[in-house]
Amino acid sequence: MIVAVDGPVAAGKGTLARRLAAHFGFAYLDTGSLYRATARKVLRAGSDPHDVEAAVAAARSLTPEDLTDPALRDEAVGEASSVVAVVAEVREALLGYQRRFAAEPPENAPGAVLDGRDIGTVVCPDADVKFFVSADVEVRARRRFEELRDRGVSADYEAVLADLRRRDERDKGRAAAPLKPASDAHLLDSTNLDIEAAFRAAKDIVASRL
Ligand code: DC
Repeated sequence: MIVAVDGPVAAGKGTLARRLAAHFGFAYLDTGSLYRATARKVLRAGSDPHDVEAAVAAARSLTPEDLTDPALRDEAVGEASSVVAVVAEVREALLGYQRRFAAEPPENAPGAVLDGRDIGTVVCPDADVKFFVSADVEVRARRRFEELRDRGVSADYEAVLADLRRRDERDKGRAAAPLKPASDAHLLDSTNLDIEAAFRAAKDIVASRL
């Protein structure tokens, strides 16, 4: 059983995907962490995320340890990750790992949940269940702002909103695997839905496919 969860930044797809995986005993892969780890490698080497060669080399040399770096959640890394994610060769380099994870989940789990931007469209077009989670950009910015504040990171709401808009544009506007719902995805708009309600709706859909 492969479950694809796609959507824009801060729509709540990570929380939903993690909860689905925990509920059904499936393996979970946050595919954004692969792009974030690539960006982190580029930044650590002192290179520019717009440097295509540096980004491709970083993507091709990722190791499992690179995925556990706490700095992956930093805003600067998030911003740079949307820059490296535009490069087709970077995406190509990360594809095999994602597909293997879906086809043969670790620890013989009976299924896999992958969240990202292009899981239902490119990585796993044959996924058994696909969700596209979205919410108004102001609502997403408010949630991200509150999350940062709770983590003790000083943030400015207007700056967070501008940052989300910029990343949305980059994710949607790129030629390689742009962010868009798969034609057979279940659309979950979390603008007025709390995570509990979104989870219940998604859980029932997955359960009906088991
Ligand atoms: O979900 P996230 O914010 O951690 O993702 C970081 C960046 O990685 C995002 O701006 C776009 C890119 N990404 C992608 O292009 N494809 C994916 N499947 C996952 C993430």
